[in-house]
Amino acid sequence: MTARSALLAFGLAIAGPGFAVPAQAADAKRGADLGYTCQGCHGIENYKNPFPVYSVPKLGGQHADYLVVALKAYASQERAHPTMHSHAATMSERDMEDVAVYLAGQELTPIGHAVGTAPKASHTCAACHGNDGIGILPEYPNLNGQHEDYLVQALKAYGSGQRKNAVMAGMTAALTNEDIEALARYYAAQEPALCSTKDTRDTGRCKD
Ligand code: HEC
Ligand code: HEC
Repeated sequence: MTARSALLAFGLAIAGPGFAVPAQAADAKRGADLGYTCQGCHGIENYKNPFPVYSVPKLGGQHADYLVVALKAYASQERAHPTMHSHAATMSERDMEDVAVYLAGQELTPIGHAVGTAPKASHTCAACHGNDGIGILPEYPNLNGQHEDYLVQALKAYGSGQRKNAVMAGMTAALTNEDIEALARYYAAQEPALCSTKDTRDTGRCKD
């Protein structure tokens, strides 16, 4: 029994009848079937979004909870992307949870320090994404080793309204293009790096 399922079982035991039943633990095996089509883009290293051109984000080693947040945002169009919308719109919450644990694979083990010198603009980011890019809550994305051009695209998407997120809109409002480039370069260089889902499919984790 994993720590999470033990906690869920404990929750059930103390909740007793009449209380809401906690959600079932996600099922990575079921996620593997659902995730087959996702590998066509996320499982190919350095695959590109066609227009505008930027790398398809790495999902291996990402927080599974964040992947669910992202899929819900595509479904509701809070986050505009036609391909991802058509995938997410047909998924139930359970589908999203199962596919997320499968695609994320094993949690990354932090190395305990940042790589290189943090740009000044990153000081406010560390409160949520850590100095090493590791999201401090499961709903906060890991940025470590993510594709640099995807990070630039994501930071600009909050400013343009393509991604509607109140927190990140506020965080990016005052950033210059130079800040965005420095931040993306810095986080893309952090270790351990996220990976393509080909690695998580083959090994269950990002390769060293
Ligand atoms: C045709 C290529 C393609 C396929 C197939 C595809 N994706 Fe994506 N996915 C993308 C692109 C491109 C993005 C980045 C979109 C953006 O800029 O928001 C993305 C983004 C995501 C994100 C957000 C990651 C982040 O860091 O915020 C998640 C989660 C995701 N995809 C999950 C899936 C799942 C689950 C499937 C299968 C059901 C899937 N994708 C299939 C191309 C694809
Ligand atoms: C108060 C917490 C908080 C702070 C501070 C913060 N972020 Fe975020 N960040 C988030 C959350 C939550 C999300 C997910 C938002 C969403 O769903 O689009 C996010 C998303 C992102 C993403 C998108 C990742 C992906 O995979 O698509 C990037 C890039 C990012 N943040 C960079 C930064 C940078 C750079 C800073 C500092 C300038 C910063 N963040 C400050 C909470 C924070």
